[in-house]
Amino acid sequence: MNRARVIGVLSILIIVIIAGCVELKRSSPIIPAKEYERMIAGRLDAEYVGTETCLSACHEHDDIRAAFDSSTMGAQLKRDSGLPLVDCESCHGPGSLAIKGITKELVEENRKKGIKTACNYKTLIDINNLPAPAKSLICLKCHTGNATFNLHEWNAGVHAVNDVSCSDCHRIHQGPDLKVRPKETAQMCFKCHEDIKAYYNMPSHHPVKEGKMFCTDCHDPHGTTTESLLRKATVRETCTQCHGEKEGPFLYEHGDLTENCLSCHMPHGSPNNNLLSLREPFLCLQCHDSHRINTSTGGELTLDEKRYFFGRCTDCHSQIHGTDLPSTTGKGRFIQ
Ligand code: HEC
Ligand code: HEC
Ligand code: HEC
Ligand code: HEC
Ligand code: HEC
Ligand code: HEC
Ligand code: HEC
Ligand code: HEC
Ligand code: HEC
Repeated sequence: MNRARVIGVLSILIIVIIAGCVELKRSSPIIPAKEYERMIAGRLDAEYVGTETCLSACHEHDDIRAAFDSSTMGAQLKRDSGLPLVDCESCHGPGSLAIKGITKELVEENRKKGIKTACNYKTLIDINNLPAPAKSLICLKCHTGNATFNLHEWNAGVHAVNDVSCSDCHRIHQGPDLKVRPKETAQMCFKCHEDIKAYYNMPSHHPVKEGKMFCTDCHDPHGTTTESLLRKATVRETCTQCHGEKEGPFLYEHGDLTENCLSCHMPHGSPNNNLLSLREPFLCLQCHDSHRINTSTGGELTLDEKRYFFGRCTDCHSQIHGTDLPSTTGKGRFIQ
């Protein structure tokens, strides 16, 4: 190709890309988010006044403010103005009506009269009574899937679909720590998943309540493309990220059983040893018959040898997850 043609092709490409961008711009939201918030509050006449104006006359929310200002979210500043990127009104909506007429004197007078607040907070967004998806939308206008990567699958996730909202898990005003701390995660999840808590009280359980691992090692509560909100594509991958020695591939595999570790194990807790879904030998007897072993000498069977095994099959079949070594007769029987 000569240079002129290359330039020609390139300029056509650039024109197409620019045209594409213009098209994208046109398909952006019809009303800006701020107008939208006014609509949620039902007040198109309210204005944004900034945290300073909001809170200057009254000290009621000083603690909330201090905690929020020192959180990661509250510490972000706008590049152009240096003002906070996220302030009270980012979530509560425009505040001008709420503080109309509030002066230090009025606040003082009210305090003497025993009136708790002069703030007309009913003109703000009634966050607690919004439907769950609208509540989450307050957060999602900034935390889009692109900005906060683990929210990529939020909309299709089982939590969003079942009306769980961001603020059910993230208590914005609990303190400066907006993320749920790993060690507190389980208690937070148990608020709604009491049945799972019961498993962690069983004799054999993953050390979650001991604080050695966390619900979020296996689950992403924000939504995933997998079933049961698993972070990894399959149950097997979920388990082998920590139990790598069970991953294989082995020369002798247990049919395709180990494709799903839950063929034999429970993920959270179990009344049986080793998180097994059933006790041995019953676990194995679901699919196999018991058997006896012929004497190695070929002679008369002793009483012991006539007996069928109804104990722990894995006393002999100890390599139950797969092995590269055959049994003595050359077959893959997970003996060694
Ligand atoms: C990121 C969103 C967000 C920001 C920013 C925010 N809030 Fe809130 N606020 C909420 C949510 C959600 C609730 C609902 C209750 C809850 O989850 O704690 C709430 C509740 C409240 C309440 C009621 C508390 C209660 O116990 O019922 C007050 C007061 C409040 N916020 C004040 C403020 C002040 C003051 C600021 C600014 C310093 C602020 N908020 C910034 C999201 C936010
Ligand atoms: C005006 C934009 C905006 C809104 C609205 C907003 N956030 Fe944020 N949030 C941010 C920014 C910016 C950060 C800091 C950068 C980051 O971690 O992505 C942040 C950080 C966070 C963090 C991480 C804190 C940490 O310690 O890493 C959490 C959790 C969070 N936000 C939750 C929420 C929730 C829940 C809501 C809705 C109630 C919400 N945000 C609403 C902009 C926003
Ligand atoms: C079922 C509980 C739950 C819900 C619902 C939830 N989160 Fe989270 N979120 C968590 C937990 C637990 C963590 C900490 C572990 C992690 O990063 O997954 C977290 C972490 C985060 C972080 C920090 C991510 C990082 O990489 O550091 C942000 C930001 C966040 N959530 C925003 C949101 C927003 C926005 C929503 C609503 C659209 C939301 N979350 C809904 C439980 C939840
Ligand atoms: C505010 C309540 C609430 C909280 C808090 C909550 N969940 Fe859920 N969760 C639900 C609801 C509702 C469903 C959907 C109905 C169901 O399957 O029980 C669900 C579903 C799930 C599922 C999928 C079940 C399935 O069949 O696919 C998993 C996994 C899950 N939650 C894990 C968690 C984890 C981990 C946490 C803590 C980080 C958590 N949840 C916190 C309410 C909650
Ligand atoms: C070792 C990984 C792991 C950990 C840690 C873990 N889970 Fe699970 N969880 C799973 C797997 C795997 C499933 C899928 C079960 C299935 O498909 O039958 C599951 C299923 C669930 C379900 C769906 C309900 C059900 O019984 O099918 C809920 C709810 C749940 N987990 C909540 C939690 C909570 C809450 C925690 C923390 C206290 C937690 N999980 C910790 C692996 C884990
Ligand atoms: C985040 C790491 C992690 C993941 C993921 C994980 N495990 Fe574990 N597992 C552990 C730890 C830690 C122990 C406890 C070891 C100990 O106590 O010595 C354990 C113990 C076990 C035990 C022995 C329990 C007992 O009572 O001694 C079994 C069986 C087990 N895991 C199976 C699984 C299965 C099946 C999965 C997938 C659903 C899985 N693990 C996923 C970390 C993990
Ligand atoms: C055919 C049933 C079966 C399947 C499938 C299975 N296991 Fe096991 N697993 C067992 C039995 C039985 C034990 C108890 C071993 C013993 O008594 O020696 C056990 C023990 C364990 C232990 C604890 C003891 C040890 O060897 O570290 C871990 C961890 C474990 N399994 C992980 C897994 C993982 C990960 C998978 C999926 C890749 C899986 N298992 C699939 C039957 C199974
Ligand atoms: C869900 C059904 C299932 C369970 C539970 C199960 N197995 Fe298996 N097992 C199979 C399948 C399928 C094969 C592969 C059969 C084949 O390849 O011909 C197999 C193969 C075997 C073999 C090799 C058989 C041969 O002919 O080479 C042994 C030994 C074995 N299992 C022992 C056990 C023991 C011990 C347990 C309990 C810890 C157990 N199995 C649990 C289904 C199961
Ligand atoms: C005392 C050790 C021992 C115990 C206990 C034991 N096995 Fe075996 N098993 C063997 C030996 C040895 C073989 C033959 C290996 C060979 O010929 O390669 C075998 C073979 C098998 C086979 C291959 C098919 C067959 O019948 O030849 C299966 C399946 C099997 N055992 C399942 C079980 C189950 C299920 C249990 C528990 C109920 C169990 N075993 C308990 C030692 C034992």
